[in-house]
Amino acid sequence: MTLAIRQLQKHFVGEVSGLDLRKPLTREQAREVEAAMDKYAVLVFHDQDITDEQQLAFALNFGERENARGGNITKKEDYRLTTGLNDVSNLGKDGKPLPRDSRAHLFNLGNCLWHSDSSFRPIPAKYSLLSARVVNPKGGNTEFADMRAAYDALDDETKAEIEDLICEHSLMYSRGSLGFLDYTDEEKEMFKPVLQRLVRTHPAHGRKSLYLSSHAGVVRGMSMPEGRLLLRDLTEHATQPEFVYVHKWKLHDLVMWDNRQTLHRVRRYDQSQPRDMRRATVAGTEPTVAQQAAE
Ligand code: OGA
Ligand code: MN
Repeated sequence: MTLAIRQLQKHFVGEVSGLDLRKPLTREQAREVEAAMDKYAVLVFHDQDITDEQQLAFALNFGERENARGGNITKKEDYRLTTGLNDVSNLGKDGKPLPRDSRAHLFNLGNCLWHSDSSFRPIPAKYSLLSARVVNPKGGNTEFADMRAAYDALDDETKAEIEDLICEHSLMYSRGSLGFLDYTDEEKEMFKPVLQRLVRTHPAHGRKSLYLSSHAGVVRGMSMPEGRLLLRDLTEHATQPEFVYVHKWKLHDLVMWDNRQTLHRVRRYDQSQPRDMRRATVAGTEPTVAQQAAE
């Protein structure tokens, strides 16, 4: 079977067939998938009944694994998964849905806001690969927005205004916007803001994209309200239906996206029922700003 890619109605999404992710990829196949990621930004694979090890091995064709440290309030000893994947489920270590009032559950609700993975890290993530192991019966679609098309559609005046802007990103800003405001001193240290450009250029094809994320909470050189209004306006623009693909999960789907040129969010779902989603994250290779300690 040969690898084939069908462009979906939303032009930045490709549906891949002819690849069995349980098996190692040839160098040529890995190259074809990466070229397709540059072209599309989101790739969908169906019927991939894979283990965590197979998922990670597939991800490692495209770079190094991003270390999960610093991305959550869950302590290592409380991790449900010990395989190197990020746990994006609503489950606790006991395999049951987390209690509605648990801190971990409340923190995880931040994934319902538009974001780019790890924009709160000095070197943010390249790709994320999300595998559906248990699909929730109600809701839980994941939506993706194309930040290249959103950038291209801005008027020239706005493009000029934002070209060199720098934002501060932190998990405390995204969670804080939902009213999750209490952090230990250790968490405050771990979630210290980092700097990211608001407009970034893709290393492979040179197209610009809006680098937005709910983790962004300050625009350098602006008051906080002024900066947040600008970010809100841009996010509202960038997530209009014409730029958005809605993924309705089927069991064993795997969706892979480029965090350098897309935003995503999960929609609300039935928290009394399991939703087991596991993510392999491919680390980025460079910061978007020569980092300084953000004040
Ligand atoms: C993620 C994420 C959304 C989802 O894995 O980074 O935001 O659908 N997940 O669970
Ligand atoms: Mn995410």
